[in-house]
Amino acid sequence: MKIKNKEKDLGKLSWEKFYSLPLNEKLGYFEKDGRMFDCLFSQQLSSQNLRTLFDLANKIRKVAKEKGGLDWLQTLLSHKRAMLYFVQPSTRTFVSFQSACYILGMKVSEIRSTSTSSELKGESPEDTIRTFSSYADLIIMRHFEEGIAEKSAWMLNKTKRPISVINGGSGKDQHPTQALLDLYTLDLSFKDKGGIDNKTIVMVGDLKRGRTVRSLSYLLQNYKNVKIIYVAPDYLKIGNDIKDFLKKHKMSFKESNELIKFLPDADAVYMTRIQDEYDINNESKNIDYSKFHLKKEHMKLMKKSAIIMHPLPRRQEIDVAVDNDPRAMYWRQERNGMWVRTALIAYLFRIENEINRY
Ligand code: NCD
Repeated sequence: MKIKNKEKDLGKLSWEKFYSLPLNEKLGYFEKDGRMFDCLFSQQLSSQNLRTLFDLANKIRKVAKEKGGLDWLQTLLSHKRAMLYFVQPSTRTFVSFQSACYILGMKVSEIRSTSTSSELKGESPEDTIRTFSSYADLIIMRHFEEGIAEKSAWMLNKTKRPISVINGGSGKDQHPTQALLDLYTLDLSFKDKGGIDNKTIVMVGDLKRGRTVRSLSYLLQNYKNVKIIYVAPDYLKIGNDIKDFLKKHKMSFKESNELIKFLPDADAVYMTRIQDEYDINNESKNIDYSKFHLKKEHMKLMKKSAIIMHPLPRRQEIDVAVDNDPRAMYWRQERNGMWVRTALIAYLFRIENEINRY
């Protein structure tokens, strides 16, 4: 009851005031009946949520293997519609969410650029999103501006027809469902090796502007004794806000600009590309990124049991010759995304028990 009143009060704040609150004070606003309603930040996902979603993803992919099972799954949300609002480039996140909707039988609409929506006529993103809520039961969105997904959810939760919002990437800030599929991949890969606890994850590349490494770092708080090693060019080091978060949660991390030195320690190497779309003056054009490339000759330095991950798309960070190495996990990681995103949608629509009973 207390929480409910508090949530009501939060709804009365101006957006600016709400946005400036510490995250732990406002997460309750994005829940209903004590369950996640909007999926906006990695910090919303507890170890319990993660286990539920991973087990549900495993169940869904098993059920979907047979025609009868997939046909049945497609009846579950056949009365629901999803809006995919992706106004920043996307291949995997878009198609995997679209596929996830299809697996559950949802009808899908899409807008992929502000140049084809009424935003070109001067409509605000807020009004655009409010409009989607007249037609859809779920909004999945990727936006170049940080905070727009949160603002959308904040605004819609106050309307008479609140619908869930999933953040598919919010500027340089977060990409929680990528972190979800990254962790699902780690969970599957280390299933017979004691799980994610006690593992060393080496994250490589543009850590300053890469939202996937940020979201993944937050999510790793749910595991015991994980060590993170951040390897980046000096200009592209991980942000202080992430380091403060890790210190606060007593998580172990190191920083370096030498990839080779840490390859033998890694249980997982998480490669990323340079995020030069965020350059203001071509500043990252002068960085020698080749020292942060994983090449075939590096493979012998890595443990036999280690895995290589990448959120993709890649440029030259991973030599294509590495694709044939059994430790290359990125193509499977991509497909895992479809299943765990299906599980997330099922969870938001509260049909997980029905699926688990099948
Ligand atoms: C990532 C993104 O958009 O942040 N891509 C993805 O969603 N798989 C990583 C990237 O673009 O480098």
